[in-house]
Amino acid sequence: MATVPSLPIPYPDQLAQPPSLRLPDHNREAWTRDAAALRFPDFQDLSAWNIFRDASVHLALRYLPEHFAEALDEFFVPTGIPALMFENLPVDPELSPIPADGLRPSNKQAVSEAVICGLVGMHGEILSYLNEKFGAPIQEVVPIQGMERIQSNAGRVQFGFHSDNAFLPRRFRQNGILLYGLRNQDAATLVLTAGQIIEAAPADLAASLAKPIYRHACPASFSLLGSAVFSAPCPILWRDELGLARVSAASSSIEPLTPEAGEALNRFRALLMSLEPARVVVRPGTALLFKDDRVLHGRDSFTGSRWLQRAYFTDSLDPLRKATRSDPEAFAFDASALLCA
Ligand SMILES: [Fe+2]
Repeated sequence: MATVPSLPIPYPDQLAQPPSLRLPDHNREAWTRDAAALRFPDFQDLSAWNIFRDASVHLALRYLPEHFAEALDEFFVPTGIPALMFENLPVDPELSPIPADGLRPSNKQAVSEAVICGLVGMHGEILSYLNEKFGAPIQEVVPIQGMERIQSNAGRVQFGFHSDNAFLPRRFRQNGILLYGLRNQDAATLVLTAGQIIEAAPADLAASLAKPIYRHACPASFSLLGSAVFSAPCPILWRDELGLARVSAASSSIEPLTPEAGEALNRFRALLMSLEPARVVVRPGTALLFKDDRVLHGRDSFTGSRWLQRAYFTDSLDPLRKATRSDPEAFAFDASALLCA
């Protein structure tokens, strides 16, 4: 296998475009062949799920060139790059039609899922919430009839810059998101780094955004009991103890808790509109990985066909298992229980 010593370009926080690596065709062909021999398990059978995950990691270790593995190492360390792209990865040779109901087709091959599990499983754990898409570890992102005008993963309209699940406490939220392209004509995913935003924010705005004077609402894609679910008061944009810029902004709504917060929120939204994000069309065989509190993401409106898969990941599931008293192998958790924990 050919090796390249490092990422093709540096990716400081202030640069928009994630680095991208392209898998050689012969690696893709062999990986596709072996992944097509795997069967996707009933994910509620945790031992079957673990067997699938382990087999997927084994294939990723075999077929990812060394410089891909190094890029993943760089991405997954806490101080690492905020986003990363891989292209020309395996896609199911006999891909089912796009599922209009947003659920995984039962006759779908398991090639893309094996690649997703392999990429994530080398460093982290896949995580899901029982309140969203039945807790599926890998979720279908497709436009759903009747929901096209909703700002969610089921819509077609422009989806503003946001972070996923900002209403959950940080320790129970995913660290990052992987989007995987199966079909995609023209829908661009937008990525704006926290570094870009903080560099562009005037000092008084940055100071107001760093105060814990905002609450994030639960998104439309979650089915939680009760009318209004909000996070504890928290900041929107801040630098952590390592000096890294971080950002968190719910997709549904953000409640300002003071007049200062209300004014800063309006200025923050205007600032976002003035910045130039990376526009990534996650095409078939492309994986886009990003850290959820190091970037905001969004989506342009689109008209063509689109079928992506999405996985949330984190470095350890132990805090979630402990907080929800779940099975020691569980990866899907009740967000309501996490809110109360
Ligand atoms: Fe999102």
